Amino acid sequence: MSGWRAAANGVGVSFLAVLNHQDETRAAYDGVVELYASMFANRLETHPFARNMIGTFAELVRATEHLRVADVGCGPGHLTAMLHDLGLDAFGLDLSPAMVDHARRAQPALRFEEAHMEALPVEDGTLGGVLAHYSMIHTPPGELPALLAEQVRVLAPGGLLLVSFFGTEGPDPVRFDHKVAPAYSWPADRFVGLLAEAGLVTFARLLHDPASERGFLDTHVLARRP
Ligand SMILES: C[S@@+](CC[C@H](N)C(=O)[O-])C[C@H]1O[C@@H](n2cnc3c(N)ncnc32)[C@H](O)[C@@H]1O
Repeated sequence: MSGWRAAANGVGVSFLAVLNHQDETRAAYDGVVELYASMFANRLETHPFARNMIGTFAELVRATEHLRVADVGCGPGHLTAMLHDLGLDAFGLDLSPAMVDHARRAQPALRFEEAHMEALPVEDGTLGGVLAHYSMIHTPPGELPALLAEQVRVLAPGGLLLVSFFGTEGPDPVRFDHKVAPAYSWPADRFVGLLAEAGLVTFARLLHDPASERGFLDTHVLARRP
């Protein structure tokens, strides 16, 4: 566990050991909301690749009949606001109640709800898009197929998924000690394979080397429900 996590959430290691990963993720993000928001709420101003992928996603969603989009694992809500500013009917969902509280205060005109990506409070086939910006990173690889199936369930035919995550060049997903909660990096091809198994057609991917000291590739994948 990183010092940041231990200090921020005040939860002991022995307690965390008996939590499942969703409880652990929730407790960890609940404990770092203000710090996270101060570090990331304006981050895309200096990250043109991610910003433009979201812009492309929004433009493609606007070309469908369905302007309603979910920002799943929305955190402080800054990307929900960006999607709204790009002309979409955007709402945010997150499993961390403290993140949802923060998002509601930061973006009072927008709707945010506490929810798990594994069980979205959304009717079948009703969304033009789902944005998952670094929010699937904490999901253990064995649970990712079901998580992706749930995103596909809520997409209308023609609807889009933009998912961003830490990429790795090796053959397998790799668990690593993310600053907030344990996370996984993914080879882009393996992730795209899971999207195909979930019924999505991937038509764009961007692998960007941010020259970070951790050596991950920022990976953005755009897929469509046929
Ligand atoms: C790395 S943060 C990303 C937040 C935001 N999307 C951004 O790009 O700044 C991951 C977020 O996903 C949320 N999250 C992780 N697993 C989740 C799940 N299974 N269901 C809902 N939210 C989840 C966390 O609570 C956290 O707010």
